[in-house]
Amino acid sequence: MKALIKTDIPEGKKLYSGKVRDLYEIDEEHLLIVSTDRLSAFDHVFKEGIPGKGRILNEISNLWFKNINFIGNHLVETDFSAFPAPYNRYPEQLDGRSAIVKKTQKVEFECIARGYIIGSGWKDYKESGNICGIKLPEGLKLAQKLPQAIFTPSTKADEGHDENISFEFMAKNIGQDLAQQLSEQTLKVFNFGMDTVEKCGIILADTKLEFGMYKGELILIDEALTPDSSRFWDASTYETGFSPQSYDKQFVRDYLETTGWDKNSEPPALPEDIIMKTKAKYEEILKKLKTCME
Ligand SMILES: Nc1ncnc2c1ncn2[C@@H]1O[C@H](COP(=O)(O)OP(=O)(O)OP(=O)(O)O)[C@@H](O)[C@H]1O
Ligand SMILES: [Mg+2]
Repeated sequence: MKALIKTDIPEGKKLYSGKVRDLYEIDEEHLLIVSTDRLSAFDHVFKEGIPGKGRILNEISNLWFKNINFIGNHLVETDFSAFPAPYNRYPEQLDGRSAIVKKTQKVEFECIARGYIIGSGWKDYKESGNICGIKLPEGLKLAQKLPQAIFTPSTKADEGHDENISFEFMAKNIGQDLAQQLSEQTLKVFNFGMDTVEKCGIILADTKLEFGMYKGELILIDEALTPDSSRFWDASTYETGFSPQSYDKQFVRDYLETTGWDKNSEPPALPEDIIMKTKAKYEEILKKLKTCME
């Protein structure tokens, strides 16, 4: 199987290529969102893809969207055979990895929920005792579970790194009401996800959600609780104080840390065995998530 690095639908109208997804405009109200096999780490997109990764992400998001019914989502059609022309002529590129979705007015912030302290949250806590202005108890250890999940929004940088911000900063920008709704819904989705996967021996440590407005309604867009947007840990090997074994692309990140790459210049080529092991990680988490959502 070859990795799909980029889509090419000459008669389609490509609007945007994100780090992972390509977006086409179907009509005024609808988009086609395609999950390619591109891989990004440390804010760089790699030349090599992970074969089948986009299909896995698409399947995982669809599963969650189906199961989360306390808030709407952007899905309109996930069945390729119901796609309109010209898209229906490109099954090799689109079947199983794309969906027709509601074209929303995006909320220009990333909505992050954290139930455990790791990554940039850990870094901020070590420096200040806070994450996004939220004071946390003293003496927390790496990867420790927080007393309760917290909402830690960040900016959505087109270039470079996203920046953690306070709830107040967000509220000033988009209004108190909307910020409040985003915080509540993000925590609700996160807690639902955490409870769902706990039953099958997985810890959901944190997740990033995106929201959009469609005809006055706030809905979930982009992707939901995938290994690209969330940290999933194996509960059986989890131990406070240590960086847990995870199903996300931590594996690639760990490899990159061994290469001496400065994370600013062109990233190094990914060796075949790293690509294959990453692919296996994505397949494994898909299988696990499927069993806990049956
Ligand atoms: N229903 C929707 N309406 C409007 N925009 C959407 C919708 N669904 C997804 N998007 C946007 O499409 C783009 C998809 O690109 P992709 O998922 O590759 O992310 P990205 O912006 O490069 O970065 P990130 O890794 O932070 O998600 C994102 O900018 C996302 O906000
Ligand atoms: Mg995205």
